[in-house]
Amino acid sequence: MENSFLHIEQSLNLKGEVTLVGAKNAVLVIMASMLLTSGKSRLSNVPASSDVLQMIKLLEQLGALVAFDQDAHVLEIDTTPVNKFCVSSEIMKKMRASILVMGPLLARFGRADIAQPGGCVIGTRPIDYHLKNFVKMGVIIEQSGEFLNARCDAMQPKKLVLEYPSVGATENLMMAATLTRGTTQIINAALEPEVLDLVVVLQKMGAKISILPPATIQIEGVEDLHSVEHSIIPDRLEAGALLLAAAITGGEISIPDAPAYALDVFLYKLEEMGHFIEVGANGVGVKLRATKNPKAVSFKTGPFPGFPTDLQAPMMAAQCLAEGTSVIEETVFENRFLHVRELQKMGAQITVEHNKATVKGVESLYGAQVIATDIRGSCALVLAAMVAKGATTMTAIHHGKHAYESLEKKLASIGARITTGVLVENHVHDSIKILEQEYGVQR
Ligand code: UD1
Repeated sequence: MENSFLHIEQSLNLKGEVTLVGAKNAVLVIMASMLLTSGKSRLSNVPASSDVLQMIKLLEQLGALVAFDQDAHVLEIDTTPVNKFCVSSEIMKKMRASILVMGPLLARFGRADIAQPGGCVIGTRPIDYHLKNFVKMGVIIEQSGEFLNARCDAMQPKKLVLEYPSVGATENLMMAATLTRGTTQIINAALEPEVLDLVVVLQKMGAKISILPPATIQIEGVEDLHSVEHSIIPDRLEAGALLLAAAITGGEISIPDAPAYALDVFLYKLEEMGHFIEVGANGVGVKLRATKNPKAVSFKTGPFPGFPTDLQAPMMAAQCLAEGTSVIEETVFENRFLHVRELQKMGAQITVEHNKATVKGVESLYGAQVIATDIRGSCALVLAAMVAKGATTMTAIHHGKHAYESLEKKLASIGARITTGVLVENHVHDSIKILEQEYGVQR
């Protein structure tokens, strides 16, 4: 994958209907949650993204038996034989969501040996909220080299307070609490739609979980949990990327399974730009018809139901050609503007000060050689490339594969001129060198 590149030519007026894959941010944690049970579970609508393949490897290393029918998007996981409790640094580096097996392993087996995740390109991304609260629940955590060795006899139910509604910490602690005797509360919990999909899965397993306003998750521990069947919710972030593709190219798109109910602020901002949005019954399904004269809008990312940080980069691409000036404030991750420099290579006028980017709309963008810096940044570059004059070549596209199963294929199906190629060896080294030296991106 590291030696592949995308070649994108100007592709105006994308038009058509697409359906979504299952949500990446839901499927990974739901796969981890299977460790709470003993038995064979069946997940459908599972995207064949590289992160899912990585999580399969991790579960297999712990002893699980896994069968994935990638064409049918069906994943079967048998956790009966799980007998190992260690996540290596090799796996942790490739997929930070590996930390999400810690709660289930502690709850079911009383031990987890997890390599420490390092920083990553979009920020330092500590796991202190996870660890502090596990300790509060009676877990003893010792550091041994690069490993955190966590042990506990029986976890204690507690009132756990998160100073920020972290998605991962909420999920990890909630999973641990499902098998912790007594009542655990998570105050200031994250309530992203993907967290709620996990709640549904845990409830199907037999967990007792309720959500109390404004943002508390209460869990009554049970003795054991059983295997489940579940269909992963459609990916609201893929929906966002596809809607922006139609918006930026002046086209039209219909996404019948788009969870509009989970995209309110984002859709509101698209309407504010002048695009025409139609939402289906019960908040499911979105149609977008692009305005020919999009206006720049300002926005600020935040926890759900705020503007999703994962759509910040793609939305910035749409501001580059809008009329006026947009101020974009990133409040979730401290370093999530890596795509700015690559957009500037294409002619975008963007300045960054701390966590604010100011985008002045320009008449045209121009094709360039760009590098996909991170998952969502790569999506922004594909969007910009589709309206840029001339052709764009994007290397390091493996970053996009973490999140999107086949975004480029879906875009091609509605008229985008995107092809994949293979780089000659020295170009592979060049783009990897730039990523490592200038952006600090790990391979
Ligand atoms: C998840 C999503 C990611 C999304 C993010 C925010 C998955 C697999 N990934 O990531 O796509 O961008 O939510 O919606 O679901 N923090 C701490 N200490 C901690 C934990 C988090 O300081 O222990 C900080 C982070 O550095 C960040 C903020 O809290 O600044 C939010 O992070 P968090 O919600 O935990 O994101 P992830 O769960 O890693």
